[in-house]
Amino acid sequence: MSEYILEIKNLTKDFPGVRALENVSLNVKKGEIHSICGENGAGKSTLMSCISGVYPKGDYEGKVFFKGHEAHYHSVKDSEKEGLAIIHQELALSPYLSIYENIFLGHMETKFGVINWNKYIKESKKYLNIVGLHEPPETIVSKLGVGKQQLVEIARALSKKTELLILDEPTSSLNDDESEKLLNLILEFKKQGITSVMISHKLNEVLKVADTVTVLRDGKSIRTFDVKGDNLTEEMIIKDMVGRDLTQRFPERKSSPGETVMEVKNWTVYHPDYHNIKVVDNVSFYLRKGEILAFCGPMGAGRTELMMSLFGKSYGSRSTGELRINGKTRTFNSSRTAINSGLGYISEDRKSLGLVLIQDIKTNITHSSLSKISQFGIIDNQKEIKEAERYRNDLNIRTPSINQIVRNLSGGNQQKVVVSKTLFADPDILIVDEPTRGIDVGAKTEIYGILNSLIAAGKSVIMVSSELPEALGMADRIYVMNEGKIKGVLSKEEATQEKIMHLALVG
Ligand SMILES: Nc1ncnc2c1ncn2[C@@H]1O[C@H](COP(=O)(O)OP(=O)(O)OP(=O)(O)O)[C@@H](O)[C@H]1O
Ligand SMILES: [Mg+2]
Repeated sequence: MSEYILEIKNLTKDFPGVRALENVSLNVKKGEIHSICGENGAGKSTLMSCISGVYPKGDYEGKVFFKGHEAHYHSVKDSEKEGLAIIHQELALSPYLSIYENIFLGHMETKFGVINWNKYIKESKKYLNIVGLHEPPETIVSKLGVGKQQLVEIARALSKKTELLILDEPTSSLNDDESEKLLNLILEFKKQGITSVMISHKLNEVLKVADTVTVLRDGKSIRTFDVKGDNLTEEMIIKDMVGRDLTQRFPERKSSPGETVMEVKNWTVYHPDYHNIKVVDNVSFYLRKGEILAFCGPMGAGRTELMMSLFGKSYGSRSTGELRINGKTRTFNSSRTAINSGLGYISEDRKSLGLVLIQDIKTNITHSSLSKISQFGIIDNQKEIKEAERYRNDLNIRTPSINQIVRNLSGGNQQKVVVSKTLFADPDILIVDEPTRGIDVGAKTEIYGILNSLIAAGKSVIMVSSELPEALGMADRIYVMNEGKIKGVLSKEEATQEKIMHLALVG
């Protein structure tokens, strides 16, 4: 038997107008953790879809061997039967079913047409234990956070006797604790002989767990590294990903904040279901013209809820306190009124990004600010095209055309459309919640550059970020939150990772 559990030979995959993969070859050793890195749109997810039968044999050229046999999968069900499980970039559970139903969905046995539910509830506990999810199996999946949903997916993979586990950006929506837990789980699986292929933009995590790293660029396999043998560093991966050295991850910016443009005083937001719980508790802060603020703190600190509640009560209908914009007290009862007053908000939630997936890039960028491309109520098509092309260039949205429907874009490129759409509305105060989630290192720098140019144009930015290096690299001041409260504020000069963590925990 070969030492490889998976062999990909000269795989080429075309979509109309796009060659997503070209002659990709790559081998995965039995029992290893193999990471795939590459920019947004490099072809990572597509490659995994070819291997696992999402795109059936015949949809691509080239050969795939799994456990020494050529894979002839017509669907995901086929590859699952052979011991290959894929956990997609966007989670794929049935939200209204219970945990245990999700785990065994599609592979429950019946006796005289009857399913023995109790047996499956009991069995599911076994797998939930392994992944460390201590929720009753009857819990409805939509009640779980993303991190826990991911664990349910993994439990489901385990229940199917998986030998090769493919994880497409498994930690992109997880916080640090959850990510660490998940990575440890993958390491634990390795001890038990399960092979993993992990796609990730978080290069530090890649170096922590992977034995081997393969870099894809523009649909081609560029190089495979042996993490230990090659003394692999993040810089080495990045160089192959983007095809050049990326010297400065956080572009320089001159900082000279002006007058206060937004002031929040004693802002308290109550939980929508439990009316005496304060999700945001007596928060006060201010934002100046030409300033970037970062809000840091652990998951559940109330950062997103604070920003959403300020943005026209998009979270929590009951709030108290004062919001002043340019010195005037304002009450926004809808996001529309907030937008009309010059606020913009980019949400952290990928699923409700505010994209219309079946529409094209151009329409997605312009449809909520039509006045900017119309005259006397008539849309100027040329102008619309010009604007959309500008964003495509500035943010390097990888697509054959701005007429491409958004569903066909890679995850990271969809995120870039969301950013474009918000920028197009030209807000004076832009709130971005985890702006670079799922975005590759090169594109991150592009987005940072765009935020900097907004500042240069006299706008202001509030950034909610879980990535401390990002907050430290970008912000003029950093507010640290925990348990709904502001625990402290640090200037750019005094801020360090340690100080931020200390403030969050001790205050
Ligand atoms: N169904 C489709 N129709 C047309 N083009 C597609 C389709 N799916 C993917 N593509 C294109 O194939 C290329 C590779 O996309 P893929 O999703 O594999 O990238 P990725 O490396 O996973 O990126 P990301 O890091 O953003 O998730 C992109 O140019 C994308 O637009
Ligand atoms: Mg992808």
